[in-house]
Amino acid sequence: MRLVDQVAVITGAGSGIGRATAKKFAREGATVVAADINADTGEETVASIQEEGGEATFQTVDTSSYESVEALVAHATERHGRLDIMFNNAGVANQPYPVLKMPVEEYHRTVSVNQHGVFYGIKAAAQAMKERGGVIINTASIYAQIADRFHFPYHASKGAVVMMTKSAALELARYNIRVVGVAPGLIDTGIVTEWKNDAELWKKIERAHMRRRAGQPEEIANVVAFLASDEATFLNGHVYFADDGAASFKR
Ligand SMILES: NC(=O)c1ccc[n+]([C@@H]2O[C@H](COP(=O)([O-])OP(=O)(O)OC[C@H]3O[C@@H](n4cnc5c(N)ncnc54)[C@H](O)[C@@H]3O)[C@@H](O)[C@H]2O)c1
Repeated sequence: MRLVDQVAVITGAGSGIGRATAKKFAREGATVVAADINADTGEETVASIQEEGGEATFQTVDTSSYESVEALVAHATERHGRLDIMFNNAGVANQPYPVLKMPVEEYHRTVSVNQHGVFYGIKAAAQAMKERGGVIINTASIYAQIADRFHFPYHASKGAVVMMTKSAALELARYNIRVVGVAPGLIDTGIVTEWKNDAELWKKIERAHMRRRAGQPEEIANVVAFLASDEATFLNGHVYFADDGAASFKR
């Protein structure tokens, strides 16, 4: 129980890594505000936490809107009195196109959620945390470091998450707010369903990991819970890879 008495907001909590982390945080004793653009799946996450005896509420958010993220943080602080942990995790994949043919709207859609959404989460959470301190965790990706074809907007947005993590950590240190990130490899969640439906492609991507398998969302949730906890008090200003070595070898 490493997160007792902690209030945590998690975006993208209706599925995959966000849902697994919401459940993990609740098991560690946190009060969880599970937020997602999809109310049905977000409510399902809350129901499964409550079934286990954990504390959670749902709040709708569209992380591509600052007003929406600000309202989410206000909901958490008004309801629970404070905010200790912000997990800026909601994300989308872009539709694959060569960069020459990438629709400008698709670029903006991806960057709005993955990059601007993380900035909004950092700004709103830091306002709420600046008196007492806290931890902000951002979800990047191995695609912040290695390029794949047809994913230009996703690469751009996740690369930005890495630098936003460093920049915010530097400026927010004076408020005792740590800012860190996690960079997952291939994780078996909704965002990669199209890849999974293509058995050959899925095998190829799995082989890009040292033990040739996709990760499970719980394996990222474990890392995020550690980063959020007092076991990680000297970790700040970095994004930590959780990728079975995928970004560390030539294939
Ligand atoms: N699965 C992977 O292989 C992988 C690898 C690296 C990084 N990531 C990142 O992990 C994060 C979580 O993704 P996941 O793998 O759990 O995928 P997922 O699709 O299972 O979950 C993403 C969640 O974000 C929500 N969401 C999407 N747009 C939103 C918005 N505008 N506002 C609020 N919520 C929104 C979705 O409704 C969904 O519940 C993303 O940032 C993703 O880029 C995933």
